[in-house]
Amino acid sequence: MRRIAKSIVATAFVASALSAEGSIVAAKIGNDVKPAQLKSSDKLWSKAKESEVTLYPQTTIKMNDKKGNAANAENKAKVAKVAALYNDKCIAFRITWPDGTQSIQDGTASDKYPDGFAVQIATNFEDAKKLPYIGMGSEGRPVLVHLNKAVTKHYEPNGNKDVALQVNRDNTNAFGDDLKKFDGDVANAAKTHYMRSFISEGFRSMTEIKDDSSKFNMTMDYDTKGKAWSGTLGRPLSDANIDLSKAGAVPVAFAVWDGEKMGRDGLKLLSTWIAVDLDGKKGNEELVKELTEAPKGNAESGKANVEAMCTSCHTLSKEKVAAMPYMAPNLSNIGGYSTAAYLAESIADPSAVVVPGYNRNAHKNFAWYNVDDKGNRTSTMPPMMTDKAMIDDAVAYLKTLKAEVEK
Ligand code: HEC
Repeated sequence: MRRIAKSIVATAFVASALSAEGSIVAAKIGNDVKPAQLKSSDKLWSKAKESEVTLYPQTTIKMNDKKGNAANAENKAKVAKVAALYNDKCIAFRITWPDGTQSIQDGTASDKYPDGFAVQIATNFEDAKKLPYIGMGSEGRPVLVHLNKAVTKHYEPNGNKDVALQVNRDNTNAFGDDLKKFDGDVANAAKTHYMRSFISEGFRSMTEIKDDSSKFNMTMDYDTKGKAWSGTLGRPLSDANIDLSKAGAVPVAFAVWDGEKMGRDGLKLLSTWIAVDLDGKKGNEELVKELTEAPKGNAESGKANVEAMCTSCHTLSKEKVAAMPYMAPNLSNIGGYSTAAYLAESIADPSAVVVPGYNRNAHKNFAWYNVDDKGNRTSTMPPMMTDKAMIDDAVAYLKTLKAEVEK
């Protein structure tokens, strides 16, 4: 009897390990098409095969916001559908994800939050085992993020070089056609206000790209019957920040925010790095392999070791809460949005990528890293596992830690 129970547990682990994310195939389209102009309803999308991408609640770092944290405490994962198209000049994505309520930010009320989505692309992915940290990149491993939020066409001063528009229309000297033009300019400025791109090496370093080096377009449409958003991104295959002209595949990650749940910043659902395979192009086979292969360790023995060695600091699930939860990131969704290579690296060499501290300002005593004279950060996590097989087992187990999918 005991034996049977054990083998059932083992099978359950194998089943979930096998459900590693697949890759997305970007279909090749003619060069006359400008993907940047594609809307989500465009017929051209039927050329691409939609792939499922699971988005998990970000639980690593808690926001300094009790209400927001409470609203998101029970979050489950959502399955999004992603399609991709490319030609010699451009690449485009369409992501469709369920959201029961359409939240559009109207005006500047500070207690209302919009739905939104982002597409994150690693700027350097030569070494498939050292991709950027999934939470907005990490030191020396930058990411490019394209972000779009559902806002109405209102205008708020934002320092976007358009000072002339930052006046109440009643205070302009404009009449007739001039006033119409003023209103049009304001509407246009406002429309693009929440379509932004950033270069980031960890979210403390997010820098908005305000020059012309990031040319892209994003759209968002809500399907009130199907209760789902559809978002598109079109961007050049290569620009000053990213060169995909010779890539056969590229690591891309997706995130969505739910305004109804006060979603913003870290309060989001996000995917792991997904390999986007440019159909018909060679190269980056290692990357595709790395991101689609199931981890090879033994999850069952990994579970035993991790529960014994790591739960003084790390929460693993609702049932396995850390002895001192403020000591380290919450790992209860880590298997959903982290790659196996990242997990192995985090265990073997904790300072390789250092996760920003838990509310560092509010909890100075429990920063997750130390900073030396030169500004380098070292993790407070001791390297606890050195044996390769033991690390593989831990990784196979950590990959099973993720929220179930919302039905
Ligand atoms: C003394 C407390 C402590 C112990 C014990 C500990 N860790 Fe950590 N761990 C941390 C801290 C602090 C961080 C965040 C800083 C960093 O990135 O290293 C971290 C980060 C991590 C991360 C990256 C998390 C993320 O969100 O990206 C993983 C994975 C991890 N630890 C796994 C483990 C495993 C597996 C063990 C047991 C073998 C373990 N840790 C034991 C403190 C600890």
